[in-house]
Amino acid sequence: MPLLNENYQNLEESYLFAEIARRVSKYEEAHPDQKIIRLGIGDVTKPLTKKAIAALHEAVDMQAVSETFKGYGPEKGYEFLRNAISAYYKRNGADVDPDTIFISDGAKSDTGNITDLFAKDNVVLVPDPVYPVYVDTNIMDGRKIVYINGTAENNFLPMPDPSIKADLIYLCSPNNPTGACYDKEQLKCWIDYARSNQAVILFDAAYEAFVSQPGLPHSIYEIEGAKECAIEFCSLSKTAGFTGTRCSYTVIPKELVFTASNGVEMSLHAMWNRRHSTKFNGTPYIVQYAAAAVFTEEGMAECQANIDYYRENARIISQVLDQKKIPYTGGVNSPYIWFECPKGMESWEFFDYLLENAQVVGTPGAGFGENGKNYFRLTAFGQHESTKEAMKRFDQLF
Ligand code: MLT
Repeated sequence: MPLLNENYQNLEESYLFAEIARRVSKYEEAHPDQKIIRLGIGDVTKPLTKKAIAALHEAVDMQAVSETFKGYGPEKGYEFLRNAISAYYKRNGADVDPDTIFISDGAKSDTGNITDLFAKDNVVLVPDPVYPVYVDTNIMDGRKIVYINGTAENNFLPMPDPSIKADLIYLCSPNNPTGACYDKEQLKCWIDYARSNQAVILFDAAYEAFVSQPGLPHSIYEIEGAKECAIEFCSLSKTAGFTGTRCSYTVIPKELVFTASNGVEMSLHAMWNRRHSTKFNGTPYIVQYAAAAVFTEEGMAECQANIDYYRENARIISQVLDQKKIPYTGGVNSPYIWFECPKGMESWEFFDYLLENAQVVGTPGAGFGENGKNYFRLTAFGQHESTKEAMKRFDQLF
């Protein structure tokens, strides 16, 4: 009989978005005539842009001809894409060597898989509320997790507490779920804290394309010292609507070298390269080819138009919350709006109430941690008409 990873007993029975889907289908089965509006999981509704689609077609045709056919690709991903991503970083004021970029199939997979590089007895620092993947994957490995509070008092932007010693620090900015975004000074404090603790920051930048206020960082590498302490994850899911197409990138600077217990110097870049080439055979060529098209000037302009479309949804949602004087964060530099549940409700109670009375699905804050138990998240990734309709129903309810 195999010995099992009993840490799985410490997880919630199902992953947050699986639980939401379960409750929604149950409601749908009982009320087949109701029109449900889904503003829960952050999945895009706009199709891939013209440029990405044209590149996909072109790459498919290349796969049909011996001269251009591609089998297994380079383990880090194709150079043409890594160069395009590096140039994109440069435009945002960060100097990222293409050789430190690894192409992958999702920021979710990479933020989960990165735990392979670290021993079980590291202390992990996680803000609460937080994207559940960081917590669940560390529970699976049996690591000790310490939480720092994100609350309305600190605008959901917790800052380092020097009395806490941690080895791994998860940060997400613009934040999922709260939509709050760190400025450069705040990130510099985190970098200084990480360096003084010899800790590694695992920085999730999946929502960077939504930053709209000038001066706010898109990448942690815009800040001095980050290469000595930070790994960054980013994705085309939200930037370019690749949630179903799958392409992401992770940057592991070569400066990240630590001394093992036997005195050997180990590089996180080399370790991830070893892991990636052992456990992963790469993102499909056609997807990488389409991803490179996203980073062209025309490709970026098309993505920006889609992001502006989603921003308008965020404005529609925020406007109703403003009218109702419901406190919220997000929506400006992020596709998420995070608000206090009306009438003092708890978040799962509010989830059921909204589903039953307005047929609108959102995400209960409790799914992101203790500090979310009276909060609720709506996504701006819907279509205009359904977002307007959802907020009309919301308006009539409160
Ligand atoms: C979310 O809704 O939090 C995200 O879409 C989940 C994800 O990106 O995996």
